[in-house]
Amino acid sequence: MGDQSRIILVNFDLMASTRRLRLILLALVAAVAVAHPRGASGEPVRARHGMVGSADEHASRAGLRVLQRGGNAVDAAVAVGFALAVTHPAAGNLGGGGFMVIRLADGRETTIDYREAAPAGARRDMFLDSAGQPVADRSLIGPLASGVPGSVAGMALAQKRYGRLPLADVMAPAIALARDGFEVSWALADSLKSAQSLLAQSLAAARAFRRADGTMPDPGDRLVQRDLAATLTLIADQGPDAFYKGAIADLIAAEMARSGGLITKADLSAYTPRERLPIIGSYRGHRVVSMPPPSSGGIALVQLLNILERFPLAAYGHNSSRSIHLVAEAARRVYADRSEWLGDPDFFDVPVAGLLSRRYADALRSGISETRATSSRDVKPGQPRTFEHSETTHFSVVDADGSAVAATTTLNGSYGNGQMVTGAGFLLNNEMDDFSAKPGTPNMFGLIGGEANAVGPGKRMLSSMTPTILVKDGKTRLVVGSPGGGRIITTVLQVVLNVVDFKMNVQEAVDAPRFHHQWLPDVIRLERQGFPADVVAALEAMGHTTDVGADMGEVHAIMIDEATGLRLGASDPRQDGRTLGY
Ligand code: GLY
Repeated sequence: MGDQSRIILVNFDLMASTRRLRLILLALVAAVAVAHPRGASGEPVRARHGMVGSADEHASRAGLRVLQRGGNAVDAAVAVGFALAVTHPAAGNLGGGGFMVIRLADGRETTIDYREAAPAGARRDMFLDSAGQPVADRSLIGPLASGVPGSVAGMALAQKRYGRLPLADVMAPAIALARDGFEVSWALADSLKSAQSLLAQSLAAARAFRRADGTMPDPGDRLVQRDLAATLTLIADQGPDAFYKGAIADLIAAEMARSGGLITKADLSAYTPRERLPIIGSYRGHRVVSMPPPSSGGIALVQLLNILERFPLAAYGHNSSRSIHLVAEAARRVYADRSEWLGDPDFFDVPVAGLLSRRYADALRSGISETRATSSRDVKPGQPRTFEHSETTHFSVVDADGSAVAATTTLNGSYGNGQMVTGAGFLLNNEMDDFSAKPGTPNMFGLIGGEANAVGPGKRMLSSMTPTILVKDGKTRLVVGSPGGGRIITTVLQVVLNVVDFKMNVQEAVDAPRFHHQWLPDVIRLERQGFPADVVAALEAMGHTTDVGADMGEVHAIMIDEATGLRLGASDPRQDGRTLGY
């Protein structure tokens, strides 16, 4: 398909000398215009036993070491999560939250929800001014932006219930990285420099990351984080209670009291991670295992797949204007539903069965034209109840037995709210921005929310994180996830489609150019590389508005080859992550 379409595009370029001819040709190629693959990094990483893919090489190495020392996929995932809190401070965290989807070799499937929760002092209008308008940045910067962190409790719960090793063994690599330091990479040096002004607002954060002369580290410098090492050691020795009830809780409460934040010791001690049943869907013979609310990711992914399964996407071509149009039309409807129907299930009755119902997907699909864009003005959230019955990070792990973990974790924005807990060495999240501060007002990702996702004490804010495992014939086939705010869902969707419909190997599936639609704003976002002008023009001829911009997502995916059992891993060429296996 790629070669054939390239020839068509060359002919098109040569012949398009007049406007009339151009329009005729545009109509002809509209159905077959296909994007060039991004400068593909090509082949996946291969290994026979276990594999770990994460945003940072030190963290992947930590996970690999735990696998080689007899830990299972959950032990390794928890080792990676704690290591990322040291080596990838923009998103790896102790002060944030996340989700883990687990599929054990014996077929058991579960999820751990360690999403942050609003403190008891949170109020529905806390981000509004006296005129009822959202106050710029109040949910993003400063102490009110933080929800009660869930990562430490969630990872410890997953490890205790499903791991094999003592928590201290699993945390040892992270402690060593914080205590002994590690070499700052180009990516980390760049990232810290770009966050310099945010981090400068917190004395503890500025001190933790600056060199003795006050400048930010250069690539090759050694970054030692003594306070963080002490915090990690306390957790390893005493378990999560050290963080939620003990000395670390005291430091968090003191930080909040000093800066005017809301999180108290009572909030910390009340925080409980939840084990939840996964969202289950099916797509062209694959079982889809993904994250339930308070993430919207699993439901939205399955809704999208339910709608798209009825279209012969493979015949329409990878990233052809026709395929992109259909995915965008499905996404427009699914994100409209997200705005209305998704929120913390402990506070809002999410119509899960209706949203996942195939009859509901058929109803949504019936409104999609194969040749014309719908206007988002004309798309409103549906009625599923009648069918009832810049910064996050993802890592994937498979062990020698075939157990698998897909985990996505976040502080929300890069480096969260920029506030470091003094004496504890970790940053706090700005996840409160994932609530809808005011119904109909977009958050940082331009996502609209309503009543279901209003701020409420103890409530968990809606997420788009979509850690997902695909199963074929009872065996794990693909472990996948990504950062990217609202774009996480469509990023994961496209990797799944690339593997299942377009038969790509896992690295090609991750490399391929991405696009995104989220209902509002009514625009298809296309990555700058990989979508030729005629594909964009063909989409516009169908009535879409397009916007060509920056890269989307950072996928770390592992596939298990059906025939050989080989682990095939892919880290995203858009960033500097690393997949390692043995
Ligand atoms: N903070 C981004 C998300 O959870 O979707």
